[in-house]
Amino acid sequence: MEPAPSTGGARPPVHVAIIMDGNGRWARSRGLPRVAGHRRGVDAVRRTVRAAGELGVEYLTLFSFSSENWRRPFEEVQELMKLLRFYLRNELEELHRNGVRFRMIGDRARLPDDIIALIDEAEVKTVSNKRLTLMIALSYGGRDEIVLAARKLAQAAKDGSLDPATISAEDIERRLDTAGVPDPDLLIRTSGEQRLSNFLLWQSAYAEMVFLDRLWPDFDKADLEQAVVEFQSRDRRYGSVSSR
Ligand code: IPE
Ligand code: IPE
Ligand code: MG
Repeated sequence: MEPAPSTGGARPPVHVAIIMDGNGRWARSRGLPRVAGHRRGVDAVRRTVRAAGELGVEYLTLFSFSSENWRRPFEEVQELMKLLRFYLRNELEELHRNGVRFRMIGDRARLPDDIIALIDEAEVKTVSNKRLTLMIALSYGGRDEIVLAARKLAQAAKDGSLDPATISAEDIERRLDTAGVPDPDLLIRTSGEQRLSNFLLWQSAYAEMVFLDRLWPDFDKADLEQAVVEFQSRDRRYGSVSSR
């Protein structure tokens, strides 16, 4: 069921999703290699997770590596995987202490085994945490996710456990990586680009989008607050008429 029309109101968005973009440009503008931007991007991730919790956000989804990012030079992909290992190893204790539940969405099959082990460990350890759910989108593509859901539905129809005539939006949602998570209310992209790049295609149907010029390594709590204020001024109509 679609929610009733509303303004963002004074409440924070329940689910914020962020396309963390601009690491390469941040580095290039300083005459540094791209990986220097990715390293500084990890600091911005830490700040943002903390800020989201402080602002009362319940779900934070961060686009960390897309299904298309495998096309990048081998050395850059290696460096990104290294940073991911570093983040998971170093942050798990603190995330857990702060009541953060960790979840990964995306294609595990393409990730190195040791990273999958770290992700599994983080998911299991933090499963009962309630303050904030941090979802990292890794080797994630919205189309991939929908294709996999379609395959599962087709298989169920073939097995006779599902009647194709009854397939609903909920049946698809239950088979996405984000099953059980409310759709993003606010979707932020940094670095001035204004596209989805295959992020949360199904789930963003009614997300309010905010595009910021800030490059990801410079993103901080004030930027998140600015995006939330913008969100709160929006009139969410869901195809209906204004609530104002
Ligand atoms: C975002 O920054 C990080 C990832 C996509 C992994 P980019 O690396 O895309 O930075 P730009 O867009 O080249 O500046
Ligand atoms: C999207 O950024 C993916 C992530 C932020 C992880 P890209 O930088 O890969 O997107 P394009 O190539 O500019 O569309
Ligand atoms: Mg980019």
